[in-house]
Amino acid sequence: MSSTSRIAKPTAQRTNFQESPLGVDVGVDFSWQLGLGTQTQSSYEIEVDKLSIDGPAERVWDSRRVTSADTVAVSYAGQRLLEATRYCWRVRTWSEQGRESQWSDWALFESGLGSKGWQAPWIFQPVGILSGAITPDDVLLSPIAHHSQPVVEFRKTIELYEEIVAARLYATARGVYSVTIDSQPVGSSVLVPGWTDYAQRIHTQTFDVTENLHTGINEISVALGDGWYAGYIGFDPRHAGATYGWQPAFTCELRVWTSSGTEHRIFSNGSWEAKYGAIRYSDGLQGELYDQRNRSASENLPQDSGYRWRPVSTESVTENLQPLSGPYTAVISEDPAVALHSSKNGFIYDLGYNTSGRTIVMLPPLEAGTVVSMAHAEVLENGELYTANLRGASQVDYFISAGSDVPTEYEPTFTTHGFRYVEVIGLPDPLPTGSLRGRTISADLKRIGHFDCSSKVLNQIYQATIRTQQSNFQSIPTDCPQRDERLGWLGDAYRFAPAASMNFDTASYFRKWMQDIRDAQSAEGAFTDCAPRVGFHSSRDGAPGFADAGHLMVEILYRYHRDRPALEQHYPAMEKWMTYLGELHPTGLRDHHLNNNYGDWVSIDSSTPKELIATYFYSECARTMASAATVLGKAVAAQKWDELRQKIAGAFHKAFVDADGRIGSDSQASYAYAIAGGLLEADAQDSAVRRLVALIKASGHLTTGFTSTALTWDVLADNGQMDLAYELAQSTSYPSIGYMMAQGGTTIWERWDGWTEDEGWGPVQMNSFNHFAFGAIAHWMYQSVAGIRLPPGGEGYQAIVFEPQPGGGLDFASASIDSVAGLVESTWHVRDHVLECEFTVPTGSQGQVRIGERWLAEVAGEHLPPGKHTRRYTSVQDPGIKGGD
Ligand code: BGC
Repeated sequence: MSSTSRIAKPTAQRTNFQESPLGVDVGVDFSWQLGLGTQTQSSYEIEVDKLSIDGPAERVWDSRRVTSADTVAVSYAGQRLLEATRYCWRVRTWSEQGRESQWSDWALFESGLGSKGWQAPWIFQPVGILSGAITPDDVLLSPIAHHSQPVVEFRKTIELYEEIVAARLYATARGVYSVTIDSQPVGSSVLVPGWTDYAQRIHTQTFDVTENLHTGINEISVALGDGWYAGYIGFDPRHAGATYGWQPAFTCELRVWTSSGTEHRIFSNGSWEAKYGAIRYSDGLQGELYDQRNRSASENLPQDSGYRWRPVSTESVTENLQPLSGPYTAVISEDPAVALHSSKNGFIYDLGYNTSGRTIVMLPPLEAGTVVSMAHAEVLENGELYTANLRGASQVDYFISAGSDVPTEYEPTFTTHGFRYVEVIGLPDPLPTGSLRGRTISADLKRIGHFDCSSKVLNQIYQATIRTQQSNFQSIPTDCPQRDERLGWLGDAYRFAPAASMNFDTASYFRKWMQDIRDAQSAEGAFTDCAPRVGFHSSRDGAPGFADAGHLMVEILYRYHRDRPALEQHYPAMEKWMTYLGELHPTGLRDHHLNNNYGDWVSIDSSTPKELIATYFYSECARTMASAATVLGKAVAAQKWDELRQKIAGAFHKAFVDADGRIGSDSQASYAYAIAGGLLEADAQDSAVRRLVALIKASGHLTTGFTSTALTWDVLADNGQMDLAYELAQSTSYPSIGYMMAQGGTTIWERWDGWTEDEGWGPVQMNSFNHFAFGAIAHWMYQSVAGIRLPPGGEGYQAIVFEPQPGGGLDFASASIDSVAGLVESTWHVRDHVLECEFTVPTGSQGQVRIGERWLAEVAGEHLPPGKHTRRYTSVQDPGIKGGD
């Protein structure tokens, strides 16, 4: 076949779901999208070459032609990949008609360095912890100083004699670190290596430092903070360093290839020097104390104070180091404050929206010893910061001036705050708003989803879910970014994960967190409530709805990203979890041993039996197990899990469904769980929907917690009750998500009653204004309002059902998702009672249209090939929709 008749080359190549990643672990997989105009793939061929600085490329894998439609996460199966090595790959495909594509471009990936090849030891500050570092003055200013260590600085000078061809820095820390070479920052990630259970694994980073180094003398400087390793984490225990260890440490290897073909290796070792610097502490939860007077310059300090350069101490690395190419957190945006007012003690700046990150401020010339503090809060009370909801997280940064005639820019190093407002104390005059900027710090994920419609309140809610996701997608998905918690609660993340995965490309992010979840699983097979595991629930794993998420999350990875390797990897852990549950609950009813039994968290009506919720989740686990087994070709197992699911449904029915169809406590949630879980027989299903609708209408709002609220949107949309869903979603009266927006919320609140006209602030011990769980509503917007739905078997957008459900007074809605298969779009307008739709099906995928009975669809269930399609449907009844003019 001549090349001119070939079909277009595959595009959008990704390795481990990342574009040209640097520092991957040595198991990789490849994804691509079919070339433009290509409808199908019947087979593919992948070639992988190992590259070297000076020698020829060496072929390490030729898959040969493989008969398969897979375009996502195809696992590498060639020669063993080496660490710290550069590779490239390309792919070509054949259509079902046997037409061959051109080869794709070559895509790069590079492996990092892990335990296998790691030779450098840990280096750390030799001075005894806290010795000489903290003065009574510090403690007076900030009691946090009493429990926190100064940031350690390391330095090492290296001389390079030849031209540099390439250079890589492999590094990691017990703690958090940043590197500069000749004062220029290395990489853009912050707070690396991120949070894992350090006793089980610590991720190593790979930085391309070719441009940072030069021939001659180079000074490498490292700042090392306590981080999650040695700083404050969670609310219990309330002591820094109690979970992993007190001694932060750093390790690295620098490899430099020079023009003569020589490879130089420079390690962290005893030749490096350490001292404390200007940062007297910088803690993730607490904030930072920065003393510009930097005492290392002071003559009065004793030699052993820690403020003089001294050789470091070393210790060999015994931990499991594992390369991770990301995603890591970074500063993803920066905006100036938009307003300012005087407060009792200073000036309060308003960023205009709630976020997670920090403040960068241009301070005016100051006299030596001037203390400027910057306190952060999400909300105001009578014009002052409301900080009671921060509990034990102080979120204050202090800057002590050394005296300066010129303005100084200050930004803390190793802390983040959940905030919208910043109170600056210590300056006689206010700074112009432009001098104080908020930086949002978030996992550096690609935004793939967009939603827009003609309802102001839905748009507000949608935008708030985006901000809430950015605020909480940190090294791990946190419950909240502000108070002394910020933990990886499984229940919250699982509920939000579908929406999250439509908003952003979460594939590699969730893969990393799934590993954290497995690391936390107990020997008996119980998943935890939070991952990484934290001390307070160590003997009480397995909470319904939370631990179950350790099992259920994998379905989301598979549904949205078609991540089969994740499924394969996670399957044994899922089996262990099922064995754990099965031994405890042989009848299928999950009514005991529920440990931290949170129920339908933050519900208004808390009467729903917790055993009902637990049994619903058990059934979901059995269902997921059956479908995972089917995908992995384990038919016998699939059958077994399906039978278990039926047994659980029977037990559910017996325990919670009355002869007259009353379910559980007759709460809204009781019905939502039963319907969503498919736990009812067909006729009972209809009456349950009717009862749910009646209950909602009687109370005028939802009384559900975050788990059942997410289910309720889908239950209503999928059972002909979209009008009610629209009404609830657009409500702005208490309790509703719209109410949060009406109160000025720019992120989603933790609880319905975060603040109400009647009661004021919600319970202070648990009242975050930046919690993503209720943001699950964004999934309903994509799926049921705009109409982008993934049918069973459509994983990774291979098949898409377009099912827009106009209503709620909207005359327009639109969503797009730049999915793993390519761009998916659904837009509709209602004009003069005519519904005009535009659907985009990505190359290689199949679309199907489902239009409700309200609309005269010429072809019911019409199939759509790849491409853009425009359709018009006429209303057969008054749809109650504002038409155009
Ligand atoms: C978190 C919640 C979480 C809950 C579990 C809270 O403190 O912020 O979002 O689900 O604990 O009970």
